[in-house]
Amino acid sequence: MVKRVGIIGAGQLGQMLGFAGRNLGVECIFLDPGDNPPAAAAGKVLQYAFDSEEGLAALAARSDVITYEFENVPVDALAKLPAGTVVYPPAAALEHAQDRMVEKTLFENLQIPVPGFRPVDSREDLEKAADELGLPIVLKTRRLGYDGKGQAVVRDRTDMDDAVDALGGSDLIAEQWVPFDREVSAIGARSASGEVAFYPLTQNEHKDGILSVSRAPADADLLEPSARLYIERLLTQLDYVGVLALELFVADDRLLANEFAPRVHNSGHWTIEGSETSQFENHLRAILDMPLGATGMRGEAGMVNLIGRIPDDRSALDSGCCHLHDYGKAPRPGRKLGHVTVVSEERDERDQILEKLANQLNS
Ligand SMILES: Nc1ncnc2c1ncn2[C@@H]1O[C@H](COP(=O)(O)OP(=O)(O)O)[C@@H](O)[C@H]1O
Ligand SMILES: [Mg+2]
Repeated sequence: MVKRVGIIGAGQLGQMLGFAGRNLGVECIFLDPGDNPPAAAAGKVLQYAFDSEEGLAALAARSDVITYEFENVPVDALAKLPAGTVVYPPAAALEHAQDRMVEKTLFENLQIPVPGFRPVDSREDLEKAADELGLPIVLKTRRLGYDGKGQAVVRDRTDMDDAVDALGGSDLIAEQWVPFDREVSAIGARSASGEVAFYPLTQNEHKDGILSVSRAPADADLLEPSARLYIERLLTQLDYVGVLALELFVADDRLLANEFAPRVHNSGHWTIEGSETSQFENHLRAILDMPLGATGMRGEAGMVNLIGRIPDDRSALDSGCCHLHDYGKAPRPGRKLGHVTVVSEERDERDQILEKLANQLNS
C-alpha cells in the first residue's frame, strides 16, 4: 500500500524528499503558503500558512506520518495538529534546534565539546562575555539565523555597540570565535524502531555565509569515531526519528560542535548520487520505520551549490560525473537555485572538477 508522508514546507528539501519517495512507493504531500514552490514538482501542495489549523488538519488527514523540511516550524503549530498525529523528528528536536542557547546547552550536557558561549541581553552582558571568553567573539541571534544571517564578529570593544544594535539588543548568544582548520558535518539517521545509520563525514566550505562546496568523505578518519559518538548521543537523547545533521569545526584535530539541523541538510545533497542511499530516502525510511538503506560511498563525492544564477550553458554541469539538480526557483542574488553533485573514482579528479565548476560559476 502507498505510504503517505505529510511535509511542512515545500522548498528544495521537500522537493528532493518527494522525488526520493517515488522509488519507495511513498507519496509526499506538502503544506506551504508559497505560490508554486519547488516541491510542487514532486507532489500536491496544500497552500496554507505553516501554523494554519485548517491546513495542518488537512495535511494530517492525508498523511500516515508528518515531517518538516525546515527547522523554524513554529512548535505551537505542531501542537495544533489533531491528537494522535505522528510527527517525526519529535518536537523536542525542533525546540532544541531553534534556540542557539538551548542547543549549545544540550551539547554541553551531552559532553559534546563546544566553543565557550554566554547569553547576551545587553551591551553589559557582552562586555562580561568578552571578559570571560576573550575576543574575538561571534555574536548571534538566538533564533531564526540561517546562511550566516543574524551574526556579527566582535573583534574589539569598539565593535560592541554596533554588533548589539545590529542584532536587536537582546536574545543573543556570544560564542568564542573558533580559528578552525576546516568545517565538517556529520549526518545520521535513526528509524522509529531505533536502527541507526551514519554517512561518512563531509567537509564544507562556505562563501558569504552560505554553503558553497562539500566533499565526502572528508579526509578525517581519526575524527569519525567522535563524530559518530556525538551524533548518537543526540539521536538517543532526543528520542530522534529521521535524519539529523551536526555541523562541527575542526580545530587542532579536535571537533567542536556548532549547530545541528533536525532535518535533511544541504551538506548531504551529494548523497543523491554519491551514496548507496540518499539522505532523503533514508529520512523517509526512518520516519516510516522501514529498514534504513546502506550508506556506503559510490566514489569520491562532492557538491557545488548554484547560488543566485544557473549558467545558460548547462552542458558542463550535467555530463560525465556531474549531475545537475535544478530546483526550478526564480533567480535572485544569494538564493540557492540548485546544486551539482560530482562523483568520481579518484579524489584528485573530483577536486579538479569541483574547482572547474566553481570557476565557471563565478565567472
Ligand atoms: N564560533 C564561530 N567561530 C568561527 N566561525 C564561526 C563561528 N560560528 C559560526 N561561524 C561561521 O559562520 C558560519 C555560519 O554560522 P552558523 O552558526 O552555522 O549559522 P547558520 O545558521 O547561519 O548556518 C559557520 O559555518 C562558520 O563558517
Ligand atoms: Mg550553519
